[in-house]
Amino acid sequence: MDNVTRIGVSLEPDLLEKFDRSLEKKGYGSRSEGIRDLIRDALAEEEWKNPDQFMVGTITLMYDHETGSVKEKLTTIQHEKHDHVSTTIHIHLDHDRCMEILLVSGTLKELQDFSNELMSIKGVLRSKLTMASPASTHMHHIGPRHYK
Ligand code: NI
Repeated sequence: MDNVTRIGVSLEPDLLEKFDRSLEKKGYGSRSEGIRDLIRDALAEEEWKNPDQFMVGTITLMYDHETGSVKEKLTTIQHEKHDHVSTTIHIHLDHDRCMEILLVSGTLKELQDFSNELMSIKGVLRSKLTMASPASTHMHHIGPRHYK
């Protein structure tokens, strides 16, 4: 690999052993790869705690389409938040239940509020926000269609 800095890490033997077992289970080829991913994860998690951080992610909804006006309410909210919704996937799970996956972008705070608002609709059984990645900072005030 080009352009890397080598570092030495001191670890207790039993910690290293556990780490090696974990790497093997996950199919890593080397410790360096495993450590790099851990560092990336830790840094990302830190960044994702900032409510103003611009993020891309998904909201996974489960709802009962027979309940009240859940479909109309979901459509209305998604139109109101169209700046935050890039695309949606709808799956008819069974007779009553639908699953919908929204690809979303916005600040962490906006996306959490959005997910909570969806959850509060009667008939929505679950609304789960998953962050994928911070979006590029220079794109922070434009719509999701500009995220590449
Ligand atoms: Ni459906």
